[in-house]
Amino acid sequence: MTAPLTITVNGQPRTVAASPWRRLLDVLREDLGLTGTKEGCGEGECGACTVLLDGAPVCSCLVVAGQADGRAVTTVEGLADGPLLHAVQRELVARGGAQCGICTPGIAVCAAAVVDAGACKGGDARAQVRELLAGNICRCTGYQLIVDAIVAAAADVERGQP
Ligand code: FES
Ligand code: FES
Repeated sequence: MTAPLTITVNGQPRTVAASPWRRLLDVLREDLGLTGTKEGCGEGECGACTVLLDGAPVCSCLVVAGQADGRAVTTVEGLADGPLLHAVQRELVARGGAQCGICTPGIAVCAAAVVDAGACKGGDARAQVRELLAGNICRCTGYQLIVDAIVAAAADVERGQP
């Protein structure tokens, strides 16, 4: 019998009776019903499944649940503050930075972490964003509008706009 796992998900402690070897991606989507996190390749190449583990982006298809036990996970569902979208989400919507949306949750989570940390601004903001997105593959948008949105979100956060 496996001991339950306790994972703080989007600020709430959650207890999950799952094998420690189950993929974190499956625990989030299937056990906790947080289907915002998407599966693309399932092997660490596309970034669609990105979540934050103790604030750092990880591919949840490559993390087993036991690695998240006692730690904090943030998914795309945890970015908004009630009805108020995170600046990255708001700018992605406003600038058309998503089409099919499969890559979008992973990009939003990853970008929100770095924008909140004060990155992706100044003269080389676009280069910073492109480096940030190196592990997040989008098959639809051509990246231009995604980069526009994240640069705008970084500027919003710097101005103190939520
Ligand atoms: S589904 Fe995890 S990196 Fe592609
Ligand atoms: S919007 Fe379709 S993969 Fe990025």
